[in-house]
Amino acid sequence: MKEVKIESVLQVYDNLDELPNDIAELMKKAFDARQKSYSPYSNFSVGAALLLNNGKIITGSNQENASYPSGLCAERTAIYYAGSQYPDAKVLKMAITAGSKLKTTVTPIPPCGACRQAIAEYEVKQNAPIEIYFMGETGRVVKSDSLANLLPLVFDKSVL
Ligand code: THU
Repeated sequence: MKEVKIESVLQVYDNLDELPNDIAELMKKAFDARQKSYSPYSNFSVGAALLLNNGKIITGSNQENASYPSGLCAERTAIYYAGSQYPDAKVLKMAITAGSKLKTTVTPIPPCGACRQAIAEYEVKQNAPIEIYFMGETGRVVKSDSLANLLPLVFDKSVL
């Protein structure tokens, strides 16, 4: 038996003002998208914005459903739209902002496990890392250089 240590290195920005301009712009698009969230059940709204290598910015928000599991997270709404509209484009960066409508969310909100798996599919497909930036409504912004950093031991097509 031997132990294996898995490490992830993340960068943490104190607030939006510390972000490079292009990322602050992308995060602003995520904020705009969040306004379009349909989340009457959880009252938790999420916005995501993707920058593609063809220059397009694709946004998405969480879309809920009376049949709860039929709803979809913001990140997957955005990345599936990107994949269906621009199948040959690479996703370079993703910005995510999230928060409750009932209280102010100051902690960075990372993508859920299902979204990490979905984003991983595209990272593997395009063979290039996707930078992920995530935050609450205000406060710190966390950056991951790749999705792989957020989902060690990924299950992907290489085993099929
Ligand atoms: N949600 C997202 O949109 N992205 C995540 O990564 C986590 C959760 C949504 C799903 C649901 O509409 C609400 O947030 C509460 O879970």
